[in-house]
Amino acid sequence: MTTLDPAPIAPTLDVHLSDVDLRNALEHDVRTGLTADPKRLPPVYFYDDRGSRLFDEITRLPEYYPTRSERWILDTHAKDMAYLSDADTLVELGAGTCEKSRVLLDAMQATGRLARYIPLDVSDTTLWAAATALAEDYPGLVVSAVVGDFHRHLDQLPTGGCRLFAFLGGTIGNLDPAQRKRFLVDLDCVMDAGDRLLIGTDLVKDRGRLVDAYDDAAGVTAEFNRNVLHVLNRELGADFDPSQFEHVAKWNEDDQRIEMWLRAMSDQSVRMVDLDLDISFASGEEMLTEISTKFTPDALEAELEECGFVIDSMWASEGDEFLMTLCHPHC
Ligand code: SAH
Ligand code: TRP
Repeated sequence: MTTLDPAPIAPTLDVHLSDVDLRNALEHDVRTGLTADPKRLPPVYFYDDRGSRLFDEITRLPEYYPTRSERWILDTHAKDMAYLSDADTLVELGAGTCEKSRVLLDAMQATGRLARYIPLDVSDTTLWAAATALAEDYPGLVVSAVVGDFHRHLDQLPTGGCRLFAFLGGTIGNLDPAQRKRFLVDLDCVMDAGDRLLIGTDLVKDRGRLVDAYDDAAGVTAEFNRNVLHVLNRELGADFDPSQFEHVAKWNEDDQRIEMWLRAMSDQSVRMVDLDLDISFASGEEMLTEISTKFTPDALEAELEECGFVIDSMWASEGDEFLMTLCHPHC
C-alpha cells in the first residue's frame, strides 16, 4: 500500500478583538497617553497593514541585526529546541509574518510529532496571509490562527497537546518591567505541566550599534515610527502632519533600553475629531512611542525565575548579540 502525502488543511481564524473592543482600547489609550507628561503612545498601534509591511522591511535592513542573529540561533539550534521541548504544538505570540517560525516548525516536524501551529497577533491581515501560506507549505499541519492581544487573550489560546510557546524578535523587550512581569505570570498560569516557553531577547551591547539598529540610514524605522500618526489620523479623525515629527532613537542607560520618540519640529496643534480633543506640542517636545529593552543573560534568568519559570537552556548568537532561552513553569 502506498502512503499518500497529507493534503493541506485550511487554516482557521479565531478573532478575539472585536471592532468595538479595538475602538474602545484605542480611544482610551490615545486620550490617556496624549494627556500624560511626557506624552506617550502604546506600540501596538504601529502594526496596521502599512506598519506590518514597514516592520518586515526593518527586519531586512543592514543595521537591524536582531532578526538575523535570532535566525542564526534558530538555524543552528532549532533541533535541540524541538528535542528538549518534545512538543507537538507551536504557539507563537506576536507572530507577524511567521517567517522564523518555519525553522522551528521544520525542526518539530523532524521529530515526527508536529501536529498544530497556533500563531497569535493583533494584525489580522498579516496573520491571515501568513497562516494561509503556512498551511499550504505544511500539508497535514493544523493551523489555528488567533487574532488577539497578548496582554489580554492568553487564556483564550487553544489548549491540548504538548505546547511550545514562542515569543520571538525581542518583543518581550517592548514591554516595561511591570508589563513583563504581568505577562510572564499570566503565561505561567495558562501553561500546563510539560509545556515550554522559548523567548528571544536582544542583549546589551555597544551603544552605537544599538542606536543604529533603531535609526537606519534609509529612514525605514523613522517611517515606521511616524506610521502611528497616520494610524491616528485615519482612525480618530486626527490632523497630525507626520512630516513635522522627527524620529529620535536614544539609549537609556539607567533602564538599559532603546527608546523611540517622535519630536515635534515646530509648535503643533492637533485636533482629534473623534475624541473631541485638542492637543498641543511645543517645538522640540518629544512623545515616547516604543521601548526596546536589552538584557544580560543573568538579568533575564532572574526575571524568569521570579515569575515562576525554570531555565532549560540558553543559546547566544555569534558575538553574543542575541539570546534565546528555553524554560518551563516551575510546578
Ligand atoms: N515575531 C516576529 C514579529 C515581531 S514584531 C519577528 O520576530 O520578526 C512584533 C509583532 O507583535 C507584530 O507582528 C505585532 O503586530 C505584534 N504585536 C504587537 N503588540 C501586540 C499585542 N499587544 N498583542 C499581540 N500581538 C502584538
Ligand atoms: N521587537 C522589535 C525590537 O524591539 C520591534 C522594533 C524594531 C521596533 N524596530 C523598531 C519598534 C522600531 C518600534 C520602532 O527590536
